[in-house]
Amino acid sequence: MPSVPVPLAVLVSGEGSNLQALMDQSDRTYTIAVVISDRSGIGALSRARNAGIPTEVLGWADFVSRDDFTTAVCDTAQAHGATGLVLAGFMRILSPSAMSRFPDAIINVHPALLPSFPGADAVEQALERGVAYTGVTVHFVDEQVDHGPIIAQRPVRVNSDDDAETLHSRIQEVEHDLFPEVVAAFARGDIHVESGRVRWKVPLHTGSVR
Ligand code: GAR
Repeated sequence: MPSVPVPLAVLVSGEGSNLQALMDQSDRTYTIAVVISDRSGIGALSRARNAGIPTEVLGWADFVSRDDFTTAVCDTAQAHGATGLVLAGFMRILSPSAMSRFPDAIINVHPALLPSFPGADAVEQALERGVAYTGVTVHFVDEQVDHGPIIAQRPVRVNSDDDAETLHSRIQEVEHDLFPEVVAAFARGDIHVESGRVRWKVPLHTGSVR
């Protein structure tokens, strides 16, 4: 357990159910210093405000380039004291400068078992391919999209009558368990990257298939 909670910036673009899980399941190893959004009027911002967490909106269209947007995100996070970035349904791609400013300290949750189905429509892709299992990946972010050292994965069974909504909702149940657990482990210093792979001091229990 760190002597003081590790301050993190949570980046959001949508409903914020993962942000809610991070707020609800915080075990005092981390604190959410700021919630940063690329758009206004989203559920995630209301959830943060209701919890009394500072929010910042950095409108994607207000920046001339991805690099400028990334610089603003990193400056804002650091101005609030954050030492890591947590991407909780954040649908923008950050420039490599973010990885230089937060080395091995940017964590993303993705609704598929990477490297299968990267991108914005991972649930739909899994249904289209007819896989029997998909799942959740939590990983460190690197220069490529939905790539980087995998920290933890959990499978989710695909049912024959699933549509994108029912499958995504079961995937999100798993995300809401796994993501805060991984973020807490990161904050405790239980995870590090060695030769491009994640090493755990104390292994995470694997969880069951939903
Ligand atoms: C989550 O399911 C997350 O895995 C996904 O967006 C959803 C956001 O939900 N992220 C991606 O697809 C990233 N490629 P939330 O706003 O309710 O947390």
